[in-house]
Amino acid sequence: MLSLESKKILLGVTGGIAAYKIPILVRLLKKAGADIRVILTSSAKDFVSPLTLQVLSQNPVLSNFTNEEHDNPQWNNHVELGNWADIFLIAPATSNSLSSMANAKCNNLLIATYLSTSCPVLIAPAMDLDMYNHPATKKNIKKLSSYGNIILPVGEGFLASGLHGKGRMIEPEQLLKNVISYFNGSKPLSGKKILITAGPTFEPIDPVRYVGNYSSGKMGYELAKEAIRLGGKVKLIMGPNSLDLESFEGDLIKVVTASEMFEQAISNFEESTIVIAAAAVADFTPKNKLSSKIKKEDKLSKINLIPTKDILFEMGRIKKDQLLVGFALESNDEINNAREKLKTKNLDAIILNSLNDKATGFGFDTNKITFIKKNGTSKPFKLKSKSDVAADIFNEIININE
Ligand code: CTP
Repeated sequence: MLSLESKKILLGVTGGIAAYKIPILVRLLKKAGADIRVILTSSAKDFVSPLTLQVLSQNPVLSNFTNEEHDNPQWNNHVELGNWADIFLIAPATSNSLSSMANAKCNNLLIATYLSTSCPVLIAPAMDLDMYNHPATKKNIKKLSSYGNIILPVGEGFLASGLHGKGRMIEPEQLLKNVISYFNGSKPLSGKKILITAGPTFEPIDPVRYVGNYSSGKMGYELAKEAIRLGGKVKLIMGPNSLDLESFEGDLIKVVTASEMFEQAISNFEESTIVIAAAAVADFTPKNKLSSKIKKEDKLSKINLIPTKDILFEMGRIKKDQLLVGFALESNDEINNAREKLKTKNLDAIILNSLNDKATGFGFDTNKITFIKKNGTSKPFKLKSKSDVAADIFNEIININE
């Protein structure tokens, strides 16, 4: 049976450039067996032709309250449309439409249908990065989510404005995946507790200085968000960083030093099902933290460092049924060194980052990994955005026993 056989999907298309991708989505949904009806806002017609959508969906495409084609106009009943649908997918959802939906501003057929339907609504926002980051947009998205609407993630990359960043509509293939997993109900990580360490640790020298590293925490944060998307209950133990974590829906535990991260990781380890150590933990910490600021006149010539405790090693030592995954940052003989780390730390898998790959690792929005399993098999991936890498990693973890 096709994955969306006999599912009725009402597709709302608003006026953003990403609307040009909607014919591909309609094609994919049809191929998966769904019955599709499309509502367009009038500005969406500037980006995608109603005729294309009519041909692909094999249903009339609506955009006005009345049917313009006839001398004798007919009422396009938004209540009937809402009742017909199993789900209402709004993609792309522009900032303007999000605002109308959040504030019940009924200015077109699409919004009227949204306001009168009782079926689940999935929303795929699409806009420029500054618009997406604006507190007014964030507030509208939060409001819509509080009404029970499912807000799909946005993509990251090239934007029509010429800027690069977060805000674009996720690709039609990803929209299809989200629709299918919505209908499949239970998500792959439902009922599972996921513990993730992320970011750097800062080891204080005196009240104003520290020993640290360039980790941004982005990879760990993307892993945490992906785990939530897949239905997991997530605890993220995060070192100092400048990420915007305001909209994070998991349990955030902020730490500064390696020893604080150790305490939190170990005390949350036992109850966890899947544990991923993505943090760039400092391997050394100053032996003594000075309580007052070191002055120039002190002529500091050296700092005595002592090793920190290896958190991942300790988790491997006390591990019972937990699935334990680490990272390895290597510069030479990468695969063998990573395999060695996997063994020493008693891991189920290790994710290799090579320092020889460009645009990967600390500070970048992209990453290139090799996923190595306990049985020795290794699978290299292409350079991708860190959110796509997070999806690949969970895909491997979920299928680790196959
Ligand atoms: N790790 C940890 N605690 C530490 C050091 C590392 O939990 N004190 C974890 C990291 O989060 C990562 C893995 O161990 O998942 C490997 O980290 P990496 O820096 O590549 O290796 P190290 O074990 O620190 O060894 P080396 O730096 O000598 O390669």
